[in-house]
Parts: sequence; C-alpha cells; structure tokens
Amino acid sequence: MKQDDLITLTIESQGVDGVGIGKCQGFTVFVPYALAGDQIVAKVDFVNRKKSVVFASLKEVQVPSQNRVEAPCPVFGKCGGCNLQNATYQSQLQFKAEKVKKNFAKLAGIDIPLPEIVASPLQFGYRNKIALPVSGKKGKVVLGMYKTGTHQVVSLPNNDCLLCQDWAKKVAVLCQNFFNESKIEPYNSKYNSGLVKHVVARFVDGQLLLTVVATKGGAIDYAPLKKQLDRNWAKWGLYENVNSLGNNVILSGKSNHVDGIEAIQSEMGAIKYFIHPDSFFQVNTQAKDLLYKKVKEFVQEFQTEVLLDCFSGVGLLTASLYDESYDTFAFEIEPSATQSADQMKIANNLVRLQNVCGDVLEQLPKVICKLKEKKTTAVVDPPRKGLSPQVIKMFSQNGANNVVYVSCDSATLARDVGLFVQDGYSISKICCFDLFPNTDHVESLVCLQRQTN
Ligand SMILES: C[S@@+](CC[C@H](N)C(=O)[O-])C[C@H]1O[C@@H](n2cnc3c(N)ncnc32)[C@H](O)[C@@H]1O
Repeated sequence: MKQDDLITLTIESQGVDGVGIGKCQGFTVFVPYALAGDQIVAKVDFVNRKKSVVFASLKEVQVPSQNRVEAPCPVFGKCGGCNLQNATYQSQLQFKAEKVKKNFAKLAGIDIPLPEIVASPLQFGYRNKIALPVSGKKGKVVLGMYKTGTHQVVSLPNNDCLLCQDWAKKVAVLCQNFFNESKIEPYNSKYNSGLVKHVVARFVDGQLLLTVVATKGGAIDYAPLKKQLDRNWAKWGLYENVNSLGNNVILSGKSNHVDGIEAIQSEMGAIKYFIHPDSFFQVNTQAKDLLYKKVKEFVQEFQTEVLLDCFSGVGLLTASLYDESYDTFAFEIEPSATQSADQMKIANNLVRLQNVCGDVLEQLPKVICKLKEKKTTAVVDPPRKGLSPQVIKMFSQNGANNVVYVSCDSATLARDVGLFVQDGYSISKICCFDLFPNTDHVESLVCLQRQTN
C-alpha cells in the first residue's frame, strides 16, 4: 500500500466525524464522504504503517449504500460547509444518535440507550448566520466558504449555500461587488497583508446584521454598501470589526456600529428578544424553539427555588425558563449578549431575573455559595469546549439538585457527564436535536439529578 494507489473496499462504519471507515490489505482506511455500506474505489493519500492506518479520498462509488442520495449542492465535497448531504435525512439522524451513544461509551464509560433525536423542521435553508472569508486580489475579490482543509475559497456568488436561504447569496454578491468596485484589497494570510478579512452576516425575522472584519478601523468608505443595503432590506445594521491578528479567529473585540439598526429585535411566542452582532445566537431558528421547549419541560419537572442559567447568551432560553415563582440568575461573559439580555429583561418585565456579566468560573461562586438551603436547578449551555471541572465541583459541593446540560459537542458533554456522575449525579434523561442538518454536528440535552444519601 503506497500513496496514490487506487484501492477497492467496502465501508463498514462511519467515525463520529462522519468519515467512512473500511479495511484493506490489513490497514484501517479512512475515507471522507464515504458512507457505511458503500463499495468504493479510493485513492491513497497517506499511509501510516506504524499504526496500520491509511487516509484516502473517494474516487468512485461502485455500489452505493442504501443510505446514499445525490447531494443537491454542486460544491458538496469541495466546500467544507457540510459533510453528510449525500446521506438520507433519516440515516443522518440515526448517525447522530449513534455518535452521542458512542461518545458516552468511549469518553465516559457510560452505556446509554440510543437517544431519541428530534428532526430539524428545515433540512436546508435553516441557517440564520454565515461567516464568509474574503480572498482573491484587489478588483477580483472572492467571497465564499473555505474548501475542506485549505485556505482556498469556494465562491458563494457563483454557487448557492443550501444551508442558508437566498439572503446569504445576496449578501455575498453585494459585498463582493462593493469590495471590487471600491478596490478594497482582500486579506492575504500568507503575507498578513490586505484590508478586508471576513464578512459575517446574521438574518433573523427579515432583519440583517452585517459585520465587515477589517485589519484597520475607519479605512473603508461604506457609503456605496449602505446604498445597496437600503435597496435590498428594510431593516439592516452595519458593523465593522477590527481584527489585525494573524490567527484564524474571525472577530476580535467589540464590533463598531457604522449605520442602521444596532440590534435585531424579534419575538419568540410572547417573549421579546434582542441580538447584537457579537453575541451568540442559535443558528437554526426553528429547531432552537423545539430545543428550548424541551429544556423547559425538563426544568418544570423539578421543584425549583432558584434557577441558574450558565452561559446564557442573549437570554432567550433564560426568558423561556423564567417563572415568577423562583429567582433566576443568568451568567454570560460577552458584554453585548448581557446588554441584549438586560434589554430583554426590561421589555418582558422579568423582575426576578438577574443578568450577571462575567466568567461563570468567577461569578457563579458568588451566587451559589448563598444557595445551599435552596432547591437549585442549573441549566448549562457551554461552548464546544464544555465545562471546567471546577464548575462541576461548584455544583456538586453547593448542592445544585438538578442540572440540565445543553451541549453542541457530545464528546465534551460525555466527559463532563462522567464527572457529574462521579460526583453523585445520575442521568435521568437524554434527548438530541438536529440543529445542524447535513453536517455531523448534533445538539444534546442531558438531565442530571443529584442522588440524596
Ligand atoms: C452555546 S452558547 C449558549 C447561549 C444560550 N444558552 C443560547 O441558547 O443562546 C454559549 C455562551 O457562553 C458564553 N460563554 C463562553 N464562555 C463563558 C464563560 N467562561 N463564562 C460565561 N459565559 C461564557 C458565550 O459567550 C456564549 O454566549
């Protein structure tokens, strides 16, 4: 077995990242975009003899898996945006439930039943946010998505992103034309040169927030872009984020408001909420409603005197869990998200809510140490890296009776749940939500109850 060899194999399973796995000549072969059940021809890209592992690329599907469909996107496999578009939706859901089960077994040694997974109301056109790298040359700028594993950009104006609706392409075309007509130089990561790096856009309820990420502040005349935004959207807001760092972090520090609306204002049922451009907001608007409903159902099963919502973002989940019968504390590190949460508190008259801006690790102890005698329910929804062990200890040592853990990364979730279990909690329920159709990502919800001795 050597590089560039063409090999024929049957894909036996898929890893938790969706990559197809088969065997050939005593090697374990990993093939992106190959599905369990496919018989394929693959080209060997890399051989690791010590580990008997081969990485290969899919060249031909000789006999398709029963789960295989034609991916509707013409740049599927080139653009790194999604990796499961070639699988039936039912098999995507099955894959995700199995992924969560596998991660619990492997990373926490916990055998859970195959969790129920709730489908997304939309399988395409569900994303409300897009971040587009800007590349190319002055006058020939290209906006799009990174080609898998590279810094090359697949143009969005020349293709569609099926995960977003028309607004995303419109934004890409408009910004691309603006950068080209204004002769704005795109960023070049090789030389750390150029002016414009990324365009980040969020579109919720007919309102667009657009952030241009530039290496220098105040160097762009946005007048022509504003004219175009006005022509296309009744409610738009334009921000500039200055990021001169040579790393791959998109936004740096606080974005500056240039013109238009400062925040998206919308409603979920009777709850009014606000989103600023630097704040986290769930990308799948419709599926998020189902997730929040389930979190509420879980919380309502507990007797609660104090609710702690950790990693609370703009506070929409907090508001949907709010109840006049208990005090609610919401902890969030991003100042603009806490600003949105404070606006939400006023707009909805949530008198028993206190929004705390800061690191959970620093702010939670100040509140939780006073709650030992109270029946406390905690909701945690951390970023992908999960919880720090100190936060888990804070809950167990201060008597948080119940913890509802919301997670977009089932590997760190499994690791953390393992620690909760060691500290005397037991899993009472697990449920998954497909917030990210056509990708290998999955949102999970775990209910943990503290065992009384
Ligand atoms: C996955 S989001 C969840 C937001 C919210 N629950 C929702 O559904 O919109 C995680 C949030 O945690 C915040 N965050 C990250 N690290 C934090 C920390 N150390 N302390 C407090 N908040 C943090 C992020 O800014 C982000 O808003």
